[in-house]
Amino acid sequence: MDIVHSTKFILDSGDLSEYRKIKDLAEKNDAQLWGATTNPSLIAKAAGLTEKGKKFTQKEAFDFQKETILEIVKIVPGAVSAEVYADLTTKAEEMVKQGREIATWHQRVVVKLPTTLEGLKARTTLRKEKINTNNTLVFSQQQIFAICLHEHIMQKKYGPIDDLWPPFISPFVGRLDDIGEDGMDLVENGMKIKKLFSHTLPASPLAIWMLEASVRKVEHIRRGILAHTELITAPASALEQWFALTQDEKDQIDSTVYAKDLQKIPYWTPDDNLLKIDNEEDFYQAIEAQKIDITHPLTEKGIVRFVEDWKTILK
Ligand code: G3P
Repeated sequence: MDIVHSTKFILDSGDLSEYRKIKDLAEKNDAQLWGATTNPSLIAKAAGLTEKGKKFTQKEAFDFQKETILEIVKIVPGAVSAEVYADLTTKAEEMVKQGREIATWHQRVVVKLPTTLEGLKARTTLRKEKINTNNTLVFSQQQIFAICLHEHIMQKKYGPIDDLWPPFISPFVGRLDDIGEDGMDLVENGMKIKKLFSHTLPASPLAIWMLEASVRKVEHIRRGILAHTELITAPASALEQWFALTQDEKDQIDSTVYAKDLQKIPYWTPDDNLLKIDNEEDFYQAIEAQKIDITHPLTEKGIVRFVEDWKTILK
């Protein structure tokens, strides 16, 4: 399994020309564009389909997504995340069905799942089948804790995922900033939450990677690197700015000034009893009893937004 020595960069886009452009730019600056994060609506928008007014059946849209992903895989050397279609009523079984299909596209494709109860149930099944996942739409420390605990239980029972990389967790920074909270606090605290599991697992720290997402500016990138985030995904605009900076300029970025008016997110300490959970049954009981609260209004909002985008391209 790949070992992280420094933060890897991912482009958040569905646009093939952006991948080529950012890859070249990174290389010119002795850096690397490692991976990709996509979702079906990002891909459709990038292809100009929404503007052209072209509409797809669900199957055609899925196939189109696959074609694009297979092109992106040729451009970047690392992981390419592709998202299942899920609305607020989609059941785990349906996500599993799509996830299994997506995982066959290429060895480097990782299945993106929403961080909801159904999404976690789908994670359980896919994880048992050693299909790698990226938990997306993460907005709270309890969600990060739930994913780490879930992975911890899976690793104990079924062993490491045996994939090229460990599974990913994607906290959304910019959307928290948008509501006045300091989104990078979630990433920084999340890195600490991950470490809580080191003492109980032989493979320490817990084999799971933080993928900082919804990045809007170089300050987010700088803070992520300082927090030793394994992965950062950002739109072309932010990566272009970042790769154009010299090392001195990067070091001189004041990465906190932009956040001075944002509300701090204090570290959430899990109860000792939660840390002792070591099986699926107790895990789901703790979630259903809301001892671990995996709900967040922005997760729901994110799913609704995703579905709306997706519908613009469907017949
Ligand atoms: O990586 C997540 C990203 O696609 C969401 O970004 O800017 O819409 O919050 P944004």
